[in-house]
Amino acid sequence: MKQQKPLLIIEHCEPTLSEWLLLEYKHTAKLWKNNLLFTRVTDAKTKKILQKLGAVKKEKAKDLYNGKQCIVLDPQAKKQLTPPDCAKADALIIGGLLGYEKPQGRTKTLISAASGFQTRHLGPLQLSIDGASFVIKAISLGLPLKDIEIAKEIEIIHDPVHSTILPFGYPIVENKPVITPGLVKYLSKL
Ligand SMILES: C[S@@+](CC[C@H](N)C(=O)[O-])C[C@H]1O[C@@H](n2cnc3c(N)ncnc32)[C@H](O)[C@@H]1O
Repeated sequence: MKQQKPLLIIEHCEPTLSEWLLLEYKHTAKLWKNNLLFTRVTDAKTKKILQKLGAVKKEKAKDLYNGKQCIVLDPQAKKQLTPPDCAKADALIIGGLLGYEKPQGRTKTLISAASGFQTRHLGPLQLSIDGASFVIKAISLGLPLKDIEIAKEIEIIHDPVHSTILPFGYPIVENKPVITPGLVKYLSKL
């Protein structure tokens, strides 16, 4: 099958494939269907799991796509991602990195700084991996970032006394946040 453009690349940077991370990867795979590549997957067990979701390579994106038109989605980028950027790109690269409440600039240190690729941001809020994948998909389909509603954080209510605040930006569709399928159940088990 001919590869559609742009390809979404997730550069897997976490040392382990946690349940939370896998839920975000699975959601991304649903959004990007067969147009998803995981890079920097060096461990055989992780490769076996991720092969069910997309193509998998052990190399880093910067080595596989050297000389190609790639854009790293980096919260520290100066320019925002636009539909024309997506139309020109061979691949859009996001970090397979779970967020901390206070962003630590790991996308830059682990991916974009040494890549030689252009960088773009998706607004001032730190999005989850699948949230970023959702927003990138919408932009690649022609929607400008300013027209995508993004909540500052969301609160998951488990019962009348327990809740979890997720301090990340979540895209809103028809007044509801786009939450990783399975995440609410996973959090309620913790
Ligand atoms: C949960 S974020 C991890 C961010 C990481 N903690 C950092 O400080 O760079 C996962 C990935 O989604 C993408 N992402 C999330 N929010 C973004 C934003 N506002 N602009 C650009 N990319 C973003 C980045 O590719 C990032 O590596």
